[in-house]
Amino acid sequence: MADIEKILAEDALFIEKELDRRLSPELLGNGIMADAMRYATLGGGKRIRAFLTIEFCRMFGGKPADAASYASAVEMVHAYSLIHDDMPCMDNDDMRRGKPSCHVAYGENIALLAGDTLLTYAFENAVLDYSSTDRINRYAVYEIAHGAGAVGMCGGQELDLRLDCSGYEELKNIHNLKTGALIRTAALLGYYAAVPSPDSYIRDKISAYSAAVGLAFQIIDDLLDVRSADEILGKPVGSDARNGKKTVLAFMSEEEAEAEALRLSEYAAEIFRDMPRSEVICQLPMYLYGRKK
Ligand code: IPE
Ligand code: IPE
Ligand code: MG
Ligand code: MG
Ligand code: MG
Repeated sequence: MADIEKILAEDALFIEKELDRRLSPELLGNGIMADAMRYATLGGGKRIRAFLTIEFCRMFGGKPADAASYASAVEMVHAYSLIHDDMPCMDNDDMRRGKPSCHVAYGENIALLAGDTLLTYAFENAVLDYSSTDRINRYAVYEIAHGAGAVGMCGGQELDLRLDCSGYEELKNIHNLKTGALIRTAALLGYYAAVPSPDSYIRDKISAYSAAVGLAFQIIDDLLDVRSADEILGKPVGSDARNGKKTVLAFMSEEEAEAEALRLSEYAAEIFRDMPRSEVICQLPMYLYGRKK
């Protein structure tokens, strides 16, 4: 068994350095908005999306350095999504990653702009120093936009706002969009960073893996929102209930939700089982299932 916690910590450190450099005052200046971008992106987060990019890249024969610009781009999009998700017009949460949310620290106007700029800066980074060919880089840029867009994260966030979700099937669609889509982007970009010519069989396997991991990830997130504590989670528990959100617990018991997340994680863990160098990618779903934050 690979020591997944050690690899997670190493990859998190690797991406932290990359993000630190890419968001440095030398490149972005010392303005308040650039400061807010650094505040929201650096020094926190589990870096699961970067991990997926780096480890899919490694599994297909690449090195972490090959995945650096794509992994940074995905973490920037993710950080932007969290800034906007916490704002008063969205979930109105005042804590994120164990510190005041970006809009609490910098005000709503600066937080809004910092989110916007992280999104555009992600694209700047995705088209800088990539290891793939120009053609594959175009696919990668497409996947970032697609994963973040109307039939990806933002589309899911819009459905999440409506509060009228009718059942688990509809909720799965919301979870797939708001959380699964960017997880798929992260995984696919790792593949793109490693191979000269992507093939559709592998892409489909990555999509299946990401769909299961993404849904399980959001189910556990919903469970932690009722079970955990602010100090452990680094964000306010009870946010979903306060906002009247219909999470997975509107449609099943905690035990059933846990069983559903376990089923999805076990399924995902098998998808790449017979491929070389797949140990870490196969272990990740069960690690995420057991996470405490
Ligand atoms: C939080 O994502 C938002 C969801 C999609 C549930 P993470 O739980 O990955 O947040 P960080 O990056 O570790 O803070
Ligand atoms: C939002 O889901 C996922 C995003 C697209 C940001 P949540 O609203 O449940 O995420 P948390 O719990 O605030 O991290
Ligand atoms: Mg939300
Ligand atoms: Mg939220
Ligand atoms: Mg949540």
